[in-house]
Amino acid sequence: MTAATHTRRDFSRVLSQTLAAALAAPNLSSLAPHPLDAPQTKPMPAGPIRLNFNENPYGASAKARAALADCAALSNRYPDEAYRQVIAALAQKFNVKPENIILGCGSTEILRAADDAFLDPTRNVVAAAPTFEAVLDYARVLHSNAVLIPLTSDYRHDLPKMAAACTSKTGVAYICNPNNPTGTIVTRDELAAFVQAVPPTTLIVVDEAYYHLADDRRYSSALEFIPAYPNVIVARTFSKIYGMAGMRLGYAIGAKEPIARLHAELLQDNGNAAVLQAALASLADNDHVATCRAQLNATRQWLCTELTKDSRPFIPSQANFVMLDLGAEVRPIIEQFRARNVIVGRRFASMPNFLRVTIGTQPETEAFLATLREIAPANPARAAA
Ligand SMILES: Cc1ncc(COP(=O)(O)O)c(C=O)c1O
Repeated sequence: MTAATHTRRDFSRVLSQTLAAALAAPNLSSLAPHPLDAPQTKPMPAGPIRLNFNENPYGASAKARAALADCAALSNRYPDEAYRQVIAALAQKFNVKPENIILGCGSTEILRAADDAFLDPTRNVVAAAPTFEAVLDYARVLHSNAVLIPLTSDYRHDLPKMAAACTSKTGVAYICNPNNPTGTIVTRDELAAFVQAVPPTTLIVVDEAYYHLADDRRYSSALEFIPAYPNVIVARTFSKIYGMAGMRLGYAIGAKEPIARLHAELLQDNGNAAVLQAALASLADNDHVATCRAQLNATRQWLCTELTKDSRPFIPSQANFVMLDLGAEVRPIIEQFRARNVIVGRRFASMPNFLRVTIGTQPETEAFLATLREIAPANPARAAA
């Protein structure tokens, strides 16, 4: 099983160094300033550049922030009405009934509820390796066995092998699409074949945390499979494109029966008043989603073009992060970045030479690249070839 290194806990470490010299490096931008980047004509604030948790550097929409600011007055009241409103708003967005939606404390709670409802020591979980580990971590707590299927040579889920591994003893099959940490996708047609092949007793959890960042035309949501395959659920989050990772809200969409089973595993009253108001405002602000998506994908494209110029191998990504093959153990390299006030990573045990970097703002991403070039200069011979 892939070892989970929860560097998220490192979040609280205080870093005292001032910004890396790289931040001041001139002449890096090849993109015209985007509206989201434009306010940063001020100098970059001192403090580390955080490119390690696949967060949205642009944060929540202005409407969500305004809703948060108004929340203090609500703090003494249980948020039942707002809870129902968020579920209703999601039901309307996805053209389903409220009974087809549950909310979680982040999509992590959804993943845990799926394990709790469908796994035990006699039922296993089938997943790719490497992938986002929460489902595997919670499976371990339940003494459920994990059947891990290595990614293909192009770092994608091997869906035919994963389907073949699913038996009547498989409680959960987890598909992360796009996959964290590789940023790769499975296509709509591959998913269609997979859902058909997996036993109906297996809950297929399709984690679409990075749904909004994928722009490959062969990609689409697994939502379309739910009516014909009620064993499919889709997990989404407000942590990524909506820029609310610190607020903790995720949700699942699925058929009534599996959703009810997951619902039974949730903490009662698991949504706080502030995040629910912010979520309602976010759902009404499609412009922010579109703007973040456009800018993050433009910056991702810019970074990949620069990496290509440097002849640095990387995995083409459909998410807000990129895996670079540095050809050497990344642990010391991550530390070198940290010493320069740029937080990158984390390291994945089965891909020890790969560095995962989150797409930040354009200036942050330029600073990352400048720092990379300083720490590990591109091989001039290869770069010129
Ligand atoms: C694929 C994937 N799923 C789920 C999550 C958890 O997100 P959250 O609990 O913040 O919704 C993450 C977080 O990085 C992720 O990468």
